[in-house]
Amino acid sequence: MKKSRRNFIKKTAAASSATFLAPSIISASVFGANDRINASVLGINGRGKNHISSLMKQKNVQVVNLCDPDMNLLKVRQKEFKNKYKKDVSLEQDLRRVMDNKDIDVVSIASPNHWHSLSVIWACQAGKDVYVEKPGSHNIFEGRKMVEATQKYDRIVQHGVQLRSSPAINEAIGLLRNGYIGNVYMARGLVFRWRGDIGDKGFSSVPNGLDYDLWTGPAPKRPFTENLVHYNWHWHWDYGNGDVGNQGIHETDLCMWGLDVGLPSKITSMGGKFLWDDCKEVPEVLTSVYNYPDEGKIIQFEVRPWCTNTEEGATVGNIFYGDKGILVVDGYSKYKTYLGKDRTPGQSGDDGAMEASDINPSLLQLVQRIVSHVLFFLGAIELQYRIACPYAPLPLLGHHAPLLLKSPSSQHLILPDGVGS
Ligand SMILES: NC(=O)c1ccc[n+]([C@@H]2O[C@H](COP(=O)([O-])OP(=O)(O)OC[C@H]3O[C@@H](n4cnc5c(N)ncnc54)[C@H](O)[C@@H]3O)[C@@H](O)[C@H]2O)c1
Repeated sequence: MKKSRRNFIKKTAAASSATFLAPSIISASVFGANDRINASVLGINGRGKNHISSLMKQKNVQVVNLCDPDMNLLKVRQKEFKNKYKKDVSLEQDLRRVMDNKDIDVVSIASPNHWHSLSVIWACQAGKDVYVEKPGSHNIFEGRKMVEATQKYDRIVQHGVQLRSSPAINEAIGLLRNGYIGNVYMARGLVFRWRGDIGDKGFSSVPNGLDYDLWTGPAPKRPFTENLVHYNWHWHWDYGNGDVGNQGIHETDLCMWGLDVGLPSKITSMGGKFLWDDCKEVPEVLTSVYNYPDEGKIIQFEVRPWCTNTEEGATVGNIFYGDKGILVVDGYSKYKTYLGKDRTPGQSGDDGAMEASDINPSLLQLVQRIVSHVLFFLGAIELQYRIACPYAPLPLLGHHAPLLLKSPSSQHLILPDGVGS
């Protein structure tokens, strides 16, 4: 039965890839009891909680396993799971045991960035399909290897940039493509998040219940510190990528999607730690410019962690500039346009409003696709499309911006031959 269900998934993906707007939701009744998809969630502290609840909302999916090097956390989540779903879930500290488990079809990865690519590669080798959080990888090389693995082992792998599934954002992209704001020559990415002083907790012994070898995994093993575990690894180079490679993945992806560009020829990036004397290694404030001289386009990217103005109401979002107007995306699910010299309000869209009012059939299909975004095997159209599309690994580019600050010369980054090919 499992075999036929897998074939069914593949056929769905193949048949649908030519028709992006074809309905992708398949009634749960199509699946028999033995066709239930068994999922394991890897990394269950922050984002992993959303993975568990999103998967458990699907009728033909069951989260059967939780995996995390932190046994204390695992036990808490297991108890919560039992209370909420009245079901048992197994626990595993070592993700390799999850890969060995033939009863698990799908892994949903919300571990720290340094683990993403290797986990995806192992899952593909083990014949599992994968949802992996952004950023898909901690660096460009391992990202390329991850994409190679998905192709080599012919698995479905979806990258967690959920705004791709927003009806409003898809509509906005359509406007950009159709010339609604004219020739679109510039995009701004805004990442103004409230990120405070995290202090410096110094080194300490590894807490009971945490397997720190498994937490560090393929990354350098630093002496244990609560500065890293949990969450604040985002601000340390060996494990995270700063906010340009954290929140900024979504906005970088949208800049490139909206401008319809691939890799830039040059990136300039400047910034630093100007607010606090804490243990963060990444710049708090970062301004980057991505240059596309051949296409006549440019991306400006701003990361700011504290008191700020908004830009057209947005603190996290994007602004696209054309010769006839501008298009503002606020967050992940709504946009506005302003046209001409007088900034006359034009077309706008908001997923919430679209879902509440009458909605045209193609948008309804896109709303359904939001569901399929977490239901990765049924959203296979989008998965296959994304992983096969030439821009697939480009959000990884965001990592290059802060890395520039580490270079002694801080000169323009000239991308090596072959990168982006
Ligand atoms: N798409 C989004 O909007 C969104 C939002 C938030 C976070 N994220 C992403 O989710 C990921 C997790 O972020 P977070 O804020 O939850 O971090 P976190 O540090 O709070 O949680 C990560 C968890 O992963 C566990 N972990 C470490 N190594 C592991 C391994 N080998 N196997 C399984 N689990 C392992 C940690 O012990 C921890 O419990 C990040 O990559 C982040 O970028 C995405």
